[in-house]
Amino acid sequence: MNFIELLFAFLAITPSSLGAPPPVPGKYPVPGQSPIYSIDQNVNPPFPGNLTGVIAAATGGVPDPDDNLFQNLLSAEWIIYSFYQQAVEIFKPETFTNAGFPNTTWESIAAIRDNEAGHLQLFYENISPHSAKPGPCKYDYGLNSSNPEDFLAKQVLIEIASMAFLTGLTQQAKTNATKGALTAVAATETRHEVWALLDIWGTSPFGGPVDTSFPYANQILQTTTGFIVPGSCPKGNPPYPNPSQDIPGMSVAENVTSIKPGSKVQWSFNKETNFHKHSKYWAVFFHAAYNISVPFDAQTMTARIPEEIEPRGLVLVVIATKEGAVTEDSVVAGPATVLYQPEELSLEISKSL
Ligand SMILES: *[C@@H]1O[C@H](CO)[C@@H](O)[C@H](O)[C@H]1NC(C)=O
Ligand SMILES: *[C@@H]1O[C@H](CO)[C@@H](O)[C@H](O)[C@H]1NC(C)=O
Ligand SMILES: *[C@@H]1O[C@H](CO)[C@@H](O)[C@H](O)[C@H]1NC(C)=O
Ligand SMILES: *[C@@H]1O[C@H](CO)[C@@H](O)[C@H](O)[C@H]1NC(C)=O
Ligand SMILES: *[C@@H]1O[C@H](CO)[C@@H](O)[C@H](O)[C@H]1NC(C)=O
Repeated sequence: MNFIELLFAFLAITPSSLGAPPPVPGKYPVPGQSPIYSIDQNVNPPFPGNLTGVIAAATGGVPDPDDNLFQNLLSAEWIIYSFYQQAVEIFKPETFTNAGFPNTTWESIAAIRDNEAGHLQLFYENISPHSAKPGPCKYDYGLNSSNPEDFLAKQVLIEIASMAFLTGLTQQAKTNATKGALTAVAATETRHEVWALLDIWGTSPFGGPVDTSFPYANQILQTTTGFIVPGSCPKGNPPYPNPSQDIPGMSVAENVTSIKPGSKVQWSFNKETNFHKHSKYWAVFFHAAYNISVPFDAQTMTARIPEEIEPRGLVLVVIATKEGAVTEDSVVAGPATVLYQPEELSLEISKSL
């Protein structure tokens, strides 16, 4: 047993108040202390992106208060990290320059992938030994090596959705340190989004005074499960998201031609909805730090986008049985992601589930 192994043997029998042991003894560069999470630039997965399988919970002992939150977040991060890892593997720098994008595009995507590996590690560290640490599943984003534009469009959606679900997870957090860490991670996702708006889409990076805060993070996480190849998760992974309402996902319908504020929009759902003929439903639009409810017509599946909403950044829309969607249970479908930037992608992305 060398010194490092001895150290970790010691850590493993130390109370969790001294910090969770690393997922792989002896190999855990700290995010913010190691260049592998910033400028690795390697095609191969940076640690801990090369891990497979679940790390089981130690028997006995009490989970930390935010373990459940970080389990959800680690499962979500595997989806985000793997999206970039696949891109780094299937695209070459020339793929982007040949398509007219800047010659720094591949290296920026690799740098974002490195940041996401740092998030994986941060979330591993924050799950106590008394809870399982989920490993990666197989993911299908429909990426195609000859279609970098499709990847870049999905990139905008993934980053803005991360910014929003982090605002919700922050509201679930039990400890102040967790709230601080989540806010800092959301800021990093914002940098990734802003990079794309400026360098790739050549548009204004500004999205108004306040990005969108959404209270029910697990509902957004549920929408990311479509990327998971069914049955591909490691045995023993905790359920994701947990808890889950498993309500229908929702998007702007295929034949809609405008999502300008004031437009009457038809909505489509990715599985059977159970709207009752005689019940009243609201379409609740979350933007910045407010929400606006308008009647939802469950016969025609239509609701008008409120005039007051500034068409910048992101709007999240749910169908609820209560005005303001004041409880999580009152939400019966959604959220739909209505995106206004970049303008040329806004309709296409708002129609994707
Ligand atoms: C993951 O990468 C690290 C750092 O390069 C390496 O030390 C480790 O052996 C790798 N682990 C696996 C499971 O491949
Ligand atoms: C990358 O593009 C910039 C400007 O578009 C140019 O100045 C620079 O020389 C290019 N670098 C390489 C390595 O081609
Ligand atoms: C969070 O911070 C506030 C303000 O400093 C403090 O009063 C509170 O006790 C802290 N909560 C926890 C759970 O540490
Ligand atoms: C979209 O199609 C539905 C039928 O599926 C129709 O009721 C609706 O009027 C159409 N909306 C537009 C904007 O064409
Ligand atoms: C929506 O806004 C209303 C009015 O400001 C507020 O009472 C309600 O709590 C908000 N809903 C959520 C889910 O935050």
